[in-house]
Amino acid sequence: METMETPQAHRAPELASFVDFDPRAYVDEYYGSIGEENDALLRFFAQAYRDVPTRARMLEFGCGPTIYQLISAAPRVASIDLAEPSAAARAELSRWIAADPSAFDWTAFVSRALSLEDGRLPDPVQVGARCALIRRRVRSVIACDAFAPHPLEGVAPGSYDVVASSFVLDSVTDQRTAWRDALVGLTGLARVGGVVILASLLGAEWWTVGARRFPAVALEADEIVSALNGAGCTVDLVQTIGAEEGLTHGYRGMAFIRARRTT
Ligand SMILES: C[S@@+](CC[C@H](N)C(=O)[O-])C[C@H]1O[C@@H](n2cnc3c(N)ncnc32)[C@H](O)[C@@H]1O
Repeated sequence: METMETPQAHRAPELASFVDFDPRAYVDEYYGSIGEENDALLRFFAQAYRDVPTRARMLEFGCGPTIYQLISAAPRVASIDLAEPSAAARAELSRWIAADPSAFDWTAFVSRALSLEDGRLPDPVQVGARCALIRRRVRSVIACDAFAPHPLEGVAPGSYDVVASSFVLDSVTDQRTAWRDALVGLTGLARVGGVVILASLLGAEWWTVGARRFPAVALEADEIVSALNGAGCTVDLVQTIGAEEGLTHGYRGMAFIRARRTT
């Protein structure tokens, strides 16, 4: 029997709203161009993955229909498991992995990430080679639930060298306790000594796709760092930026954080 103490008890009613999460509208709205936020994200990933030990097993949790987080990770890791609960988002993602011409076009992101990695403008062959590398690295596209006792069914805690997640735990509930519990579950998927890479909204009570509002927890970077510490992680990189369009999308800024699981 479930008690109020189980992670399942935190399941927010707003999560039902992801049934009508439109992954194509989402990528069109947030990744249709590389503005200040996306540029800062790509810059962070180029830095955060630079000294990740190669041959790592990586989990990208709550990836939605996006691959921008994998561009600078792909050369460093041996395999990537992509976890996402929305079947529509997994289908959009799978179209890109299959190089389906109807998939969202991430070429500009790949090109920009490559130039941030080594300061040189890549040619189309280099961009194509990185896309091919990402596709080769993806080992599986699977379902997940941040609020389940086992966020990835059948996957034991400590299974990954790298656990990464962007705009997920902060962006799927408005309950702080649920967010903190989910962070413990997520970071627990990294082995002790493994790396945790997070991007989070700051100061958000909601965020939008078109006119549709989704729930969020209004976080500060310090609070994320202390929750990570409480989850047995030591933070070694924190960057914050302001929202490029003010509060239009419901958030005040973003935090990009890298940590290592120590216990
Ligand atoms: C704001 S989007 C972020 C997508 C992507 N990570 C990105 O950086 O653009 C939030 C994602 O969380 C997923 N999500 C919703 N409920 C979830 C849950 N309970 N566990 C894990 N992910 C969830 C949504 O389907 C959606 O893809």
